[in-house]
Amino acid sequence: MANVIVVGTQWGDEGKGKVVDLLAKDAQVVVRFQGGNNAGHTIVLKDRKVILHLVPSGILHPGKKCIIGRGVVVDPGVLLEEIRQLRELGYFTLDTLLYISEAAHLILPYHREIDIGRERLLGKGKIGTTGRGIGPVYEDKAARSGIRFVDLLEESVFRDKLKANLEEKNFYLKHRLRAEPLEFQPIVDQYLSFGEELRAFACDESLTLYEEMAKGSHILFEGAQGMFLDQDFGTYPYVTSSNTTAGGACTGAGVGPTKIDLVMGICKAYTTRVGAGPFPTELEDELGLHLRQRGSEYGATTGRPRRCGWLDAVLLRQAVRVNGIGSLAMTKVDVLQGLDGIKICVAYECDGKRLETVPDSLLRLTRCRPIYEEMPSWNQEVHCKGGFDSLPPQLTNYVRRVEELAGVPVDIISLGADREETVVRRNPFIS
Ligand code: IMP
Repeated sequence: MANVIVVGTQWGDEGKGKVVDLLAKDAQVVVRFQGGNNAGHTIVLKDRKVILHLVPSGILHPGKKCIIGRGVVVDPGVLLEEIRQLRELGYFTLDTLLYISEAAHLILPYHREIDIGRERLLGKGKIGTTGRGIGPVYEDKAARSGIRFVDLLEESVFRDKLKANLEEKNFYLKHRLRAEPLEFQPIVDQYLSFGEELRAFACDESLTLYEEMAKGSHILFEGAQGMFLDQDFGTYPYVTSSNTTAGGACTGAGVGPTKIDLVMGICKAYTTRVGAGPFPTELEDELGLHLRQRGSEYGATTGRPRRCGWLDAVLLRQAVRVNGIGSLAMTKVDVLQGLDGIKICVAYECDGKRLETVPDSLLRLTRCRPIYEEMPSWNQEVHCKGGFDSLPPQLTNYVRRVEELAGVPVDIISLGADREETVVRRNPFIS
């Protein structure tokens, strides 16, 4: 039995979907524990590209239990559409394999309207959210006024809670955001019908996981976004509204920390970010454009172009420390092929001093200048079949240098979007 948490070590979009899909083969259960449909996990299967927003990436393997924990915020319309699309592609044939925590909070239409309205009001100072209502729904959860999945299964409870919420939200929408208020009845009708379609999936995920552990199942916890979008450890306020770090798996799925065997961090071979906020190694030049083109760096959820830059080992070290990462998977290494040289940021220079950690002050972080080390790239075609030692020496040297800087091994190297284009040096569920 092994319980493994997978988290992003940068600003999301590290390629977690591919790694989770790869590891899910050897797990029995895959669990999402935070975030919502702001996430977009892209998985390429031969000629097919599947983008998952809410359903755990394990669904693409037959017979895996897929659990949506209470730390996730669920937009039921989006979830049902995703289920429909998965069925159309021939997946999701067994309804019994999806479990949704009854305590997961629901995204309602006013959350989306508030998210979009606020960003409009912020203008140039906007966060650059995905507009999916993520911040507003987590606000309601913390304010103890949120509506949970279980409420949707009891008509009178849902009506009462919606009525109270809508009164307040409509006041805010109308008078603060100058947006149209929303009507009560269409939301009731639509959501009660969603509730009926989703009722069969309701569960107590903590109990389900406890029972699975007792059976000796391998469990994979699939993080969304990344360390620097964490609401406590990220570049606040340019963050998302959940705990994307490993601790979020325990609170978001009801599992004690002593049950976790390994945290695996996913790290892209360079860095990207969507939305606003500081990014010390950003390349606002031809090279940045090249990385975007070569790496197809466009948001899986919003289609927005991602900002691109060099790998930042200061961020990576901090992610290793805060998450307790014991193993790394490095993705998109192929994108660095053919460059004149590859840079890694090993520390920052800030106000005349060398800095080895990421400051909490955004102002200080904005003043940080990367201190780079440069390494050669490789030009030859890369094949995964021969394993790590058959890769070009410049590539393996890059990986080894990242291991030194991060202080943990790089156990998986991804060299393309397809499942086959991967070198696995150690599989946490097998070794
Ligand atoms: P929100 O999560 O929609 O509130 O957006 C807050 C910030 O997190 C914005 O900068 C988004 O671009 C970013 N963000 C949210 N989800 C993802 C993701 O899955 N990948 C990358 N960035 C994300």
